[in-house]
Amino acid sequence: MMMTMGKLLRCTPALLAGFLLAPKATAQEPESSCVTCHAAFGDERLSGPVESYPNDVHAAQGFDCVACHGGDATVAGMGAMDPAAGYLGVPEGEDVLSVCGRCHSSAQFMRRYDPSLRVDQVAEYRTSVHGQRLLQQGDDRVATCSSCHPAHAIKPPSDPNSSVHPLNVAATCADCHANPEYMSPYPIPTDQHEKYLESIHWEKLSVARDLSAPTCNDCHGNHGAAPPGVSWVGNVCGQCHSVMAERFNQSFHSRIFAMLGNPGCATCHNNHEIKLADIEMLGVDEGSVCGRCHSAESRGGIVATRMRTLIDSLSLARERADSILERAENAGMEVSQAQFDLNGATTALVSARTAVHSFDVEGVREEVESGLEVAAQAWERGQEAMDDLRFRRTGLAISVGIIVLLIIGLVLKIRQLEPAGAGPSRKSAPGGEAR
Ligand code: HEC
Ligand code: HEC
Ligand code: HEC
Ligand code: HEC
Ligand code: HEC
Ligand code: HEC
Ligand code: HEC
Ligand code: HEC
Ligand code: HEC
Repeated sequence: MMMTMGKLLRCTPALLAGFLLAPKATAQEPESSCVTCHAAFGDERLSGPVESYPNDVHAAQGFDCVACHGGDATVAGMGAMDPAAGYLGVPEGEDVLSVCGRCHSSAQFMRRYDPSLRVDQVAEYRTSVHGQRLLQQGDDRVATCSSCHPAHAIKPPSDPNSSVHPLNVAATCADCHANPEYMSPYPIPTDQHEKYLESIHWEKLSVARDLSAPTCNDCHGNHGAAPPGVSWVGNVCGQCHSVMAERFNQSFHSRIFAMLGNPGCATCHNNHEIKLADIEMLGVDEGSVCGRCHSAESRGGIVATRMRTLIDSLSLARERADSILERAENAGMEVSQAQFDLNGATTALVSARTAVHSFDVEGVREEVESGLEVAAQAWERGQEAMDDLRFRRTGLAISVGIIVLLIIGLVLKIRQLEPAGAGPSRKSAPGGEAR
């Protein structure tokens, strides 16, 4: 069946032209016999497509069953599915590419509907691991177009219910990749989805709804899905983390890692379970990444420790400045400018953490030193504010003291001036009597 279908698709240009040039269906057209007859079956396999198809992007464009399956929808009986009328059956494997590609690989055709839509999906797919296994080894367990875009329920990626909407892609890939039984013929792990769900990327995507965070296809490609070979892991991550990638690509690690077969950024950050970066990664202590390959005494280890010490010193200086400014602010002192200026130290800290990726102490030192200067100035301004506060408090205490002394003096003076017989007049106060 597959062979004959492939041949049919290749040998009937007139028929294909018929598909391609058929005008969009209109509401006036008689209901297709495919739909009428299939809807009448209790068998889910036959009626299911009819039920879900109305919500498919292709139905919305006016295409009917014939657009993919061929046949003649104007014939009421089983003759509608006569191969002589172009009926193709159920496309499988390579034939799916021909069916979808008939329209999607034709720029001329697609332009009539959406000129911005790419027309390279089939070409790209051929270069992917999926495509190569299918086309070269006849492996039919790999994904084809209809594995990721389920037939009869195909929706654009922007539709939240689409199998290829950013929030749904991971589950779509996981259908196969997280199924150990299905993947058992292959030597690759089936934990990518599980690990990805633990990553900062998925957290950003799913919780913060930050669509700039990557899911499977952002790193592996939509159609040219391939494992990021070690040489281009940096480029994959670099699409978004460009500064890190630039630093790393220029470092000697980049070349050595490629030689050793270490997967670039993923060597230190993992590929699927990428977490927030932590300063503990730097250095040679337990839990550090450098310590996995460098001993404390080696040059790499020494550099790691120096960079860690530098960054720690900036973190500490920044925190000290921040805390004194906060105390001053809470005491009502005006320090907003100094607090704003301290952002410069935060920026330097970020730059220093980025500079780590050059694996060169001097780069980190430069950033740290500029940050330390800013932090020191901010701290000084905080200190001044606190001194000011102390000065004002002392001044206040002195004035209060003087006022109190004056009052006491006054009271004593009044007593002195009071006549001796003034006592009883207090006893006869109305409040005292009532009690
Ligand atoms: C008169 C009823 C009837 C009409 C009209 C009809 N079908 Fe079917 N179709 C069936 C039946 C019954 C089967 C199951 C046949 C079988 O299992 O061998 C079937 C099976 C199929 C299958 C699955 C074939 C397979 O090999 O599993 C496809 C695809 C299909 N039809 C598409 C169409 C299309 C497209 C049209 C319109 C051009 C159409 N049908 C018109 C009754 C109909
Ligand atoms: C955009 C292309 C496309 C359109 C339009 C389309 N189909 Fe299909 N259909 C497919 C593909 C591809 C398959 C193979 C299933 C798969 O790979 O998951 C399929 C499978 C089927 C099957 C077999 C299901 C099975 O589980 O074996 C039936 C029956 C069927 N289609 C009927 C229809 C009917 C009826 C319509 C119209 C309402 C229709 N299709 C419209 C692409 C299409
Ligand atoms: C008869 C021509 C035709 C066939 C066959 C066809 N498509 Fe389409 N497809 C279209 C057209 C036209 C659009 C609508 C473009 C638009 O309006 O955005 C479309 C839209 C899509 C979209 C949504 C694109 C977007 O971003 O809007 C996907 C995904 C898609 N098709 C996948 C498939 C797959 C997978 C197959 C094979 C199972 C297939 N198509 C078969 C013509 C076809
Ligand atoms: C491994 C899964 C997978 C396979 C296989 C696959 N696609 Fe896609 N496809 C996707 C993803 C994911 C997107 C969404 C891309 C995005 O978000 O922009 C997509 C998007 C599309 C689009 C929308 C336009 C675009 O290019 O972004 C079309 C059309 C399309 N695919 C058609 C096809 C066709 C035709 C095939 C078969 C050659 C195919 N796809 C195979 C996953 C797949
Ligand atoms: C229909 C099942 C299926 C679906 C869905 C699927 N894949 Fe695959 N994929 C496979 C099979 C089978 C292989 C072959 C395994 C191998 O190469 O060892 C494979 C291979 C791969 C490889 C190459 C692995 C290697 O190192 O050899 C990558 C990467 C990949 N898939 C990514 C994806 C992504 C990303 C998605 C979703 C957008 C996806 N796949 C969807 C079945 C699937
Ligand atoms: C942030 C980028 C990124 C994301 C997101 C991502 N991958 Fe990967 N993936 C990689 C890298 C990097 C490798 C490993 C390259 C190496 O070790 O050579 C890889 C390897 C793979 C492999 C080969 C087998 C293996 O585990 O080493 C498969 C299959 C795979 N990924 C599938 C997926 C699936 C499915 C998803 C979504 C659930 C996904 N990937 C999400 C970057 C990513
Ligand atoms: C599609 C864009 C994209 C790709 C591709 C990507 N990331 Fe990310 N990454 C993000 C976003 C968005 C965040 C969320 C935090 C942020 O805003 O920086 C993030 C966060 C991170 C973090 C945590 C940052 C922190 O503040 O501690 C690390 C580490 C990371 N990614 C490494 C990688 C690696 C390694 C790769 C390649 C295997 C990669 N990323 C691929 C977009 C991407
Ligand atoms: C040799 C190990 C190593 C490699 C390779 C590596 N990183 Fe890092 N990365 C680190 C360390 C250590 C930190 C933590 C620095 C810190 O927290 O002070 C870090 C931090 C980060 C951060 C967070 C920085 C921030 O400002 O919060 C991102 C994002 C990141 N790396 C991305 C990448 C990308 C992308 C690549 C590949 C181009 C890569 N890393 C390669 C060790 C590495
Ligand atoms: C996967 C193993 C691996 C990891 C992880 C790793 N390195 Fe390296 N590094 C190497 C190899 C291999 C060399 C070259 C041989 C050597 O000099 O030890 C090297 C060389 C160096 C050098 C140059 C040494 C010289 O002789 O000039 C420095 C500096 C360095 N690494 C720093 C670091 C830092 C800092 C980290 C952590 C952020 C780190 N490395 C993480 C493997 C690694």
